This record gives sequence, C-alpha cells and structure tokens, in this order.
Amino acid sequence: HGTAVINDKGHLMIGGVSTIDMVKQYGTPLYVYDTALIRERARGFKETFQELGVKAEVAYASKAFSSIAIFQLMKEEGLSLDVVSGGELYTALKAEFPSERIHFNGNNKSRDELLMAVKNNIGCIVVDNFHELRLISGITGEMKQHVKVLLRVTPGIEAHTHDYILTGQEDSKFGFDLQNGQAEEAMKQSLESEYIDLLGLHCHIGSQIFETTGFNLAAKKIIEKVAEWKSAYGFIPRVINLGGGFGIRYTQEDDPIPPGQYVKEMINAVKGETARFGLEMPEIWIEPGRSLVGDAGTSLYTIGSSKEVPNIRKYLAVDGGMSDNIRPALYSAKYEAVIANKAGADPQETVSIAGKCCESGDMLIWDLPLPESEAGDILAVFCTGAYGYSMANNYNRIPRPPVVFTENGKSKLVIRRETYDDLITLDQLLT
Ligand code: LLP
Repeated sequence: HGTAVINDKGHLMIGGVSTIDMVKQYGTPLYVYDTALIRERARGFKETFQELGVKAEVAYASKAFSSIAIFQLMKEEGLSLDVVSGGELYTALKAEFPSERIHFNGNNKSRDELLMAVKNNIGCIVVDNFHELRLISGITGEMKQHVKVLLRVTPGIEAHTHDYILTGQEDSKFGFDLQNGQAEEAMKQSLESEYIDLLGLHCHIGSQIFETTGFNLAAKKIIEKVAEWKSAYGFIPRVINLGGGFGIRYTQEDDPIPPGQYVKEMINAVKGETARFGLEMPEIWIEPGRSLVGDAGTSLYTIGSSKEVPNIRKYLAVDGGMSDNIRPALYSAKYEAVIANKAGADPQETVSIAGKCCESGDMLIWDLPLPESEAGDILAVFCTGAYGYSMANNYNRIPRPPVVFTENGKSKLVIRRETYDDLITLDQLLT
C-alpha cells in the first residue's frame, strides 16, 4: 500500500518514519500521511495535461481532507482548490491559498457563503441551480463586481459506483439538467446577467469510479450540447470541468486504472467531439479528491479487547472506529490492515476489527487475516486518507485523532488531537 515499507525491526514505515515511533510520540488513534505520495499524484495529473498539450486546472476536492497544511501542500504543488462550504473556504483563505485558484461547488450555498466568495475574489463559482444564479446576480450587481462561473450540469450518466455517491444521473439533487432545457435556460440567464462571466460547464458523475466510459460519455454529451448552443446563441465555453471521482485501490479486489489514463481518455473524447463539430478545444478542468490523498493516508490504532464467539468469529477491538472512519458503517467500505509492529509476519488467524463506539454497526473490517496479536499491538489500516478525517465526528464524545504528515524520514503534527476540553467548549451551562 502506498510507499509503506518495513524496517529491520519488522515495523511498518511511512514516509521514512517508523509508525511505532510515531505512535510513541503522538499516541493512537492517529492518521499518518505520506506527503511525497500526494505530491507524486498531484504532479502526475498536471504532467498528463502538459504531455497532451491541453490547458488545464487540477483542483483538489478538499472535502476529501481539508486542513491548513494540506491546502499549503496543494498550493506548493500548483493545484487549484475546490471548496464546498464557507468553512472550507475560510480554511483555504487562512492557508493563504491563492483565491483566484479557488472554485466553489455545492447545491445550496447560502447568501453569506456566496458573499464571502465574491468578496474574496475567488476563481470561480460552480453554479448549481436557479436560486443560486439569482443570489449571485443580486450580490454582484450590488457590489458592481464581476464573478466567473461554471454551470454544473447533469448529463444523465450513471457511473458504476455505490448508490449513495451517484450524482451525475438525471434524478439527482445536483445541477441543471442538460437534456430538458434547464442548462440552456441557465446559460441564457448567465449571459444576460451583467456581472456574471460564464466560463463554461461543469459535471461530476460520481465517486470511486473504476472505468473511463462514464467520463467520456459525459464529455461527449456536453460537447454535443455546446455545439447546439453555439449555433443558436454564439456561446462557446472556455472551460469544461469534468469533476473528480477517479477510483483508488482500497483492497486487492479493487482494480483501478492509473489516474493519468482517465485524463488521457477524457481529453481524447473532448478532442474528438470538438473536432467533429468544428469547435475550439476548451480548457479541461478536473477536481479529484480521493485519488490525490486516499492511499497516502494510514490510520494507526492500538488493539485492546478481544472476544471469541466460538466457531463463528474473533473480534479485536481498537481505540477508534466509526468516529474516525465512518466509511465501513456508511458505505460498507472495505479496508486492508496489518499489525504495524509485526508488519512482516505471516497471517495466522482471521479476525474482525471492531471499533469502540456503542453500536454493533461499528465494525472497521470483517474477516481480516492477521498474525497472532495481543492487546497493545498497533493496527495500521491503509487507504484512509480520503473522507476519513473529513468525515470524523465526536459520536460517543470521542475526541478526533491528530494528523501527522511524513516526508523524507521526518514527521510533523499538522492537526493536534482533540482534548476533552475541546469537546465541551461549545457547551453552555443549564443553570
Ligand atoms: N467534485 C464534486 C462536485 C464532488 O461532488 C466530489 C465528491 C468530487 C469532486 C471529488 O470526488 P473524488 O475524486 O474524491 O471521488 N464521502 C464519500 C465520497 C463522497 C464524494 C462526494 N463528492 C466516500 O467516503 O466515499
């Protein structure tokens, strides 16, 4: 997994640092990122566009993991940033992320959030619906300030993925329908609005997608519409944003294609279609989240209690669970893990990893082959870098774990552990 290796003590290393040393220093549960791997992924996307000579913006979908440090890293790598709330935008501004490289997505942005975006001159707002279009028209009119927008459209593609995270199909809460005239109407309204500068179109067809077909089809449908609109309205989009959603390998069962391949194929699809209609090649923007940070993150836990259910199963419990990784409970997501202090040892038994939350659904991994283990051993769960910390919560008033970045044999705390005092800071006394 990732760039994880094993040292001569049989301990798992991440970014050149022993996980066992980090556990001693920072405690468990702990999220550890290999930042060299994140940089490699970021550069990979950018280089693919460069090789193919296509103007692009690669925006990191910050919902996958947002914090000041990761935004600083993405800034260093020259990426743009996709935010979906005032909170993510605030964090990006605090990280001094260049505002012209911030894109704002979301299906129900509030007036305050939009005002914040316009005031801070962000790069573009991805407009999702007519209500938002009216709000932006109003705000920019009052401020006499221009704002660039993309219109999010639903091209009617069903990406092959988990139901909860399907967003590109027709019956979706997101975006303007491309086929029934909504998107066309939104385009007309944007062109008429004095301070709205319509850059182009956006779509996002889903997440953890393992095939390129959906992206290619979406691109094709969008270009077909664009060609229709060109002859009718003279509008030519400068930008087509094809969203994120590139799948990663959580377990051996997953079979993703290399990230660059998605990009190459979607570019070819757009090139082919634009050539067919005699249109100029637009800039292609993407906004990957999971594929930038997912496999760069590992969660470390301490093993505590265990329970045998004779002839059925052995449970091993760790000091975290659905409070720091809700994905198994929410999506039946699968993970692989090793014992970090016995990383080279062969598996000897099959166990199921339970969290410490008070509910039966709090299981992290079912039927995991592991070497013999005892209380105090460290469990490393791989591929928790996306939608792990960002979906962490305080269920059962469990403090959220800290986050550590590793690179070149050094570790650095980038989010500290929540304390019990943090947990009660918002509480007000009854009397
Ligand atoms: N752009 C838009 C408009 C999105 O809605 C998303 C993800 C992305 C980009 C980034 O997608 P990615 O490259 O990370 O797949 N919590 C779920 C995933 C929800 C994804 C929501 N939107 C999970 O843990 O699997």
